[in-house]
Amino acid sequence: MQVGFLVCYHIEDFIMDIKKEEKIVIGIRRSMLPFGLVALAWSTVLPTAAYAQTPAPLRKRIQIDAGWRFQMETPVALTNLAQVTAWRWRADENGPKDAATMAAPDADTTGTEWKDAAPGDDVFRGREGYAWFRTTLPSVPGPHRMLRLKVDDDADVYLNGVKLAHHEGWQSEFSVALDTAWKAEGPNALAILVRNLQGPGGLGSSVAVGTSTASADPTQPVFNEAGWRTVHLPHDYVVEGKFTPTADASHGSLPTAPAWYRKSFTLPASAKGKSVWIDFDGVYRDSKVYLNGQLLGEHPSGYTGFRYDISKLAYYDGGSNVLTVHVDPTAQEGWWYEGGGIYRHVWLNIADALHVAPNGTFVTAEVKDPLHHPSATLTIKTTITNASEQAQECTVISEVFDPKGHSVGVIKTPQSVPAGGKVELTQSAPVANAALWSIEKPQLYRLHTTIAGGQPVDDVDTPFGIRTIRFDKDKGFFLNEKPVKILGTCDHQDFAGVGTAMPDSVLVWRTQQLKAIGSNAVRMSHNPPAPELLDACDRLGMLVMDETRHLGDTQSAKTPRGTGYADLSEVTDLVLRDRNHPSIIIWSMCNEEPLQGTEEGARIFTAMRNRVLQYDTTRPISCAMNDSAYHGIALVEDIRGFNYDPGSYARYHPLHPEIPLYGSETASTVATRGVYSWDRFTMDGHAYTGVKEQGWVSAYDVNAPPWAQTAQNSWPQQADAPFVAGGFAWTGFDYKGEPTPFAWPDINSNFGILDECGFPKDVAYYYKAWWTSKPLVHVFPHWNWPGKEGQPIPVWVYSNAARIDLIVNGTSLGSKPMPRNGHVEWNVPYAPGSVVANGYDAKGRLVASDRVETTGAPAAIRLTTDRTRLTPDGEDMTMITVAVIDAQGRVVPTADNPIHFDVSGAGQVAGVGNGNPSDHDPDKSSDRRAFNGLCMVLVGAKEKPGAIHLTATAPGLKSASLELNAK
Ligand code: GAL
Repeated sequence: MQVGFLVCYHIEDFIMDIKKEEKIVIGIRRSMLPFGLVALAWSTVLPTAAYAQTPAPLRKRIQIDAGWRFQMETPVALTNLAQVTAWRWRADENGPKDAATMAAPDADTTGTEWKDAAPGDDVFRGREGYAWFRTTLPSVPGPHRMLRLKVDDDADVYLNGVKLAHHEGWQSEFSVALDTAWKAEGPNALAILVRNLQGPGGLGSSVAVGTSTASADPTQPVFNEAGWRTVHLPHDYVVEGKFTPTADASHGSLPTAPAWYRKSFTLPASAKGKSVWIDFDGVYRDSKVYLNGQLLGEHPSGYTGFRYDISKLAYYDGGSNVLTVHVDPTAQEGWWYEGGGIYRHVWLNIADALHVAPNGTFVTAEVKDPLHHPSATLTIKTTITNASEQAQECTVISEVFDPKGHSVGVIKTPQSVPAGGKVELTQSAPVANAALWSIEKPQLYRLHTTIAGGQPVDDVDTPFGIRTIRFDKDKGFFLNEKPVKILGTCDHQDFAGVGTAMPDSVLVWRTQQLKAIGSNAVRMSHNPPAPELLDACDRLGMLVMDETRHLGDTQSAKTPRGTGYADLSEVTDLVLRDRNHPSIIIWSMCNEEPLQGTEEGARIFTAMRNRVLQYDTTRPISCAMNDSAYHGIALVEDIRGFNYDPGSYARYHPLHPEIPLYGSETASTVATRGVYSWDRFTMDGHAYTGVKEQGWVSAYDVNAPPWAQTAQNSWPQQADAPFVAGGFAWTGFDYKGEPTPFAWPDINSNFGILDECGFPKDVAYYYKAWWTSKPLVHVFPHWNWPGKEGQPIPVWVYSNAARIDLIVNGTSLGSKPMPRNGHVEWNVPYAPGSVVANGYDAKGRLVASDRVETTGAPAAIRLTTDRTRLTPDGEDMTMITVAVIDAQGRVVPTADNPIHFDVSGAGQVAGVGNGNPSDHDPDKSSDRRAFNGLCMVLVGAKEKPGAIHLTATAPGLKSASLELNAK
């Protein structure tokens, strides 16, 4: 049956001053008016002339990333300052559970368990746990009475029995407004519950009360923004800071402090009565969002998105709406660089009161004969929200488009939705000749959902893929019934020059770099990523292990404070947001949690698993465990992930043959790009090679921390055991923070297969040799060793050829067979010249070759990029490799020349980097030294089209320039 449609072009241009550069994301959409009876069956729709046109969507989803005003929070000045010096304190096992008695206004502190204390006293002396501090505050003139203090580590502050604040972290001073619980006639009983997580603990050396002199409040619509600057999201302001030895090394030695953002916008009268909401995809962290002076809500997690309905609070009469966001990145969630700010997109949504709920569509496919003639039956679930005060009758129209954009069918179902209610509807539809999603051919279908009342009122697009996945206990992972070894990396979310604020183009580029080394999978360690990274994985064909660190939140301070085991909202959000991505093949519920091996851990995991299954039954639910025993979560998860301990696969499999296995985290080789020192040193009693005083570890694959393995001691166990589905190497890219094995002066990690700029380390070629089938030879180190003439230099070759012949200055040193998943090496007495490695296949044919040569002195700069065309949206960036070359155009592998960048026209320098883990020059700069021959400049588009001209100069070197274009 064929169904005809009138295409409805009624576009109401009601977004008045959302600036032009802000993106209205529409995809290809159409509104449809059925003429004739509503078809209840799946109908094949032939492309008609009408389909050639692209009407506007009914739903407005507008990216509001441009034009945010930003300012670091400045401490509020206090007058009438009085130090609070006399305290009573006592230890307590139960912490917050005792608040009713310990924080009560009349609590008795005369008992022997209470003792005197003063600010600055270490009352914990290494004990981990809780202590109560109490005092009576002196009289403070109001209004705006404030308490200002530091606490080691976390604090709950109560005044007269009322909880006023919770603060995490020992480094930052914080203020608590007292007026809401203040008794003018006194006494004012203050109780502070202090939690010590490690080391010393207690009140900081100054606890004071006073009156705030702040006359302006950034949450209020009328506020003078003088001195504030304009920023474009995504924005990470912590990366704009100065590397500081006293700041936390695990977080990249960058200081953190709270800040404010403000954004003004207007809405037209026609939006009134509609559903209007704002989506924040990610704010690091502890955000408080206000609209027009009213608190919309607080969101502690820095990794999950959140949304606020502003329908009732917004002005629609042309008046300005002011959105204010307070962010506080001082408390940490992880042990790596986490940034600070609104570092993912923000969206304004305007929909009819009757609309598809946010994340309200879910398409699954049951596939027949995936190997030969695939066909599929789709199950389409749609949740419809009716925010109006009347019950509504509507038609839910689901139309599916194939990867080429052709409609493959449409189904329409009548549906009533109660006033103020929600309904989930299930439709089913066949797809003949299904184009499957795979790594090699990541083909995406699109569901276009329209809600029609009398006429179409709302529509959304949902990209999805048709594919099958299966983990086999003996044969590993299958995609579309074909065996696929998972060749994965784990990755955090920051990059040179931009920190955590990675534009979509950087997310895509990073995924491409991982694909270039043959990787086919990413583990989103250890939190849900930006949605656009999952989009990139869908489009580029990368498998994904999507992760939340919710497990055990009540045990530690890392994620939303006070989260109970029973609160599984983060799991719900993760699954509802991400379940349509065909790239996702595993849900991960935690990483290395202390509870992993316990019954309690298993119970929490089971609750999380049940929650996932409520929304998605199509993927295995697992976690990353760093013990190899069969206990706790291992008893209840679907597939077993091992962090490290590669010997465990072979031990575990015969004992528990029913469970599919994979390496949830593997290797953790530490290496600094281009560093070839064999000098030995120890850190924390463990031996490494490298240059300790510079914070560099050797780039030969010989260094790993005590819990981990080199690449070559980790990959073969995955490669050779058919029952191991593969694994995820720690990590694809270096990231800021966690500078193992060092602390300061290192400010970023050494774990990456690629450095912080995405430049490959030698180990990248080890993986590429065994992860791809194209013949490859890679020989290293470089051949510039002046002063080492005659001394032996270890020369290594990575290759997937059968034999390697090494030719030094024209003379063969003889050929060696290449061991599977290994490397070959020679000790070569140094003489300037060349080292050539030739790779031969089993029949003796030369299949690949690589060479290193002694270069001349640095002579010039070379700029290269894979993309010279940018989108003029104020966000797009292109990554430019800056190489220092000799007169013959060869990269000088030891060059460290300082380079200066000038960008004119429609672009700007967005950031710089060089992969040197101990370089303290800022990421936000127009200057960068090369490190071992290379550095990177990220050039970002402005908000209007035009040519962009980049010039790189350095004293004594021939400069280079590059023409880019934003259009
Ligand atoms: C793992 C941990 C990762 C990272 C890694 C470094 O144990 O899960 O987050 O710290 O060690 O080797």
